[in-house]
Amino acid sequence: ACALLLSAINLPAQNNRSLPVVPNPLHAAVSRNTVHFGNTWEVFVDPQATIDTAYLASILEEQGIRTRFTNKKNNALLILSIDKKISKNQEAYRLSVSDKKKITASAPSDNGLLYALQTLRQIISSNDHQIVLPSCTVMDEPAFPWRAFMLDESRHFHGMETVKKLLDEMAYLKMNTFHWHLVDDPGWRIEIKKYPKLTSIGSKRDFSHRDLSSGEWDEKFPGKKMFYTQDEIQEIVKYAGNRGIQVMPEIEVPGHASASIAAYPWLGASSRQQDSGIWGDLYNVTDPKVEAFLQDVLEEVIELFPSKIVHIGGDEADYTHWKNNPGIVQFMKDNHLPTFSDLQVWSINRFSNYLASKEVKMMGWNEITGDNIRGEAHIEASQTEQLAKGTIVHFWDGDISLVNKAIDKGYDVVNSNRHFTYLDYPYEVTPLEKAYSFDPIPEGLEKEKESNIVGLGCQMWGEFTPHVTRVYYQTFPRIAAFAESGW
Ligand code: ACM
Repeated sequence: ACALLLSAINLPAQNNRSLPVVPNPLHAAVSRNTVHFGNTWEVFVDPQATIDTAYLASILEEQGIRTRFTNKKNNALLILSIDKKISKNQEAYRLSVSDKKKITASAPSDNGLLYALQTLRQIISSNDHQIVLPSCTVMDEPAFPWRAFMLDESRHFHGMETVKKLLDEMAYLKMNTFHWHLVDDPGWRIEIKKYPKLTSIGSKRDFSHRDLSSGEWDEKFPGKKMFYTQDEIQEIVKYAGNRGIQVMPEIEVPGHASASIAAYPWLGASSRQQDSGIWGDLYNVTDPKVEAFLQDVLEEVIELFPSKIVHIGGDEADYTHWKNNPGIVQFMKDNHLPTFSDLQVWSINRFSNYLASKEVKMMGWNEITGDNIRGEAHIEASQTEQLAKGTIVHFWDGDISLVNKAIDKGYDVVNSNRHFTYLDYPYEVTPLEKAYSFDPIPEGLEKEKESNIVGLGCQMWGEFTPHVTRVYYQTFPRIAAFAESGW
């Protein structure tokens, strides 16, 4: 009787119920019915889609479902179709589980279809060897096109397996950008064929053992490889791509460059003078040979990363190293660069122009605007140089009004406000509630500027995470909050 009563009041679709999906879908109409399926599924994938069928099958397999691909759409239980009309938002998707035991996913892009799969994966349960789903229709799309997770592997290197696990989790949360911090003071982690010492010397250190020479490193850790070969980078890029994730590498200029300068001291403003790498030194960006080196590096980097966007760093440059180099000071006089911030913007623009000539966009931490972002007494803001148009400003530090200022000057901004999004900060400082409260759009930003906030990043800086267990502890569950605020 009870069942009868329930079915009598069974409304076709209600949207006052929610689905247990993270990030929360924009719109879900969920009926009271559940639909039961067997555990072998015929799956049709639109030939217009280029999704990795092995990945698709692995997701279903995790739920105990065997996949049989079919090219007969009408026979299929799960149908994935490209449909440009769903939304102008390329990442939108529509997912429907019908009482007629059909599941359809449609989306304007591969990414949308992958998101539909992630939603499906989160609402599946099993019961008595049956696969159980709520009858529902989901119409969903993200609020922001840039939803990034950053992993710092310079401070401590973790390797392929960890990166793949993190990419799996990002995919589960519909995050679409893996920001790979491969280069910093303690270690250079990417093979560059033209400059082998970057890895043969520059990778043999980390934050826990930063004072070891590479000889001492070899003795202590014989044969330990602390960088990615180009083949491995390509493997990660592909793995990420199959999960709908673009990979953006970060190559730091002009500071956080101690590892490369240790490998080639002639790169450094102070190190060249002493013929040995000095911690915290800056590249001598006024030297055409140094500029050529950096262009060579970027050339190999952009070959490896199809995302066509490179992060140039730009944060926390200690200008003392430029100030103490008479050649650099003279260069600034000769070229009418009144402040070190101007020299930084001048040099960043040269790389930006170089990248633009290869149809690659540049992004950098918000020091690249030339502002004295922390109002430090020893820094003068830029006076003559303007950051190149089209550069994406990555806000991390300073007053939030700098976001407005960057937008007013015509730049797009990714908001990674450190007070909310730094995953290395302890939970006492950034508890989960605070992470969930983060809105990439700063309070009071005018409506017409909102579209210049392209999204957010959350950053797993690696100084204090020598082991992967600690990386996971810092990252999970807070990453889910950032997936939510980006969606
Ligand atoms: C940064 O945290 N130095 C970008």
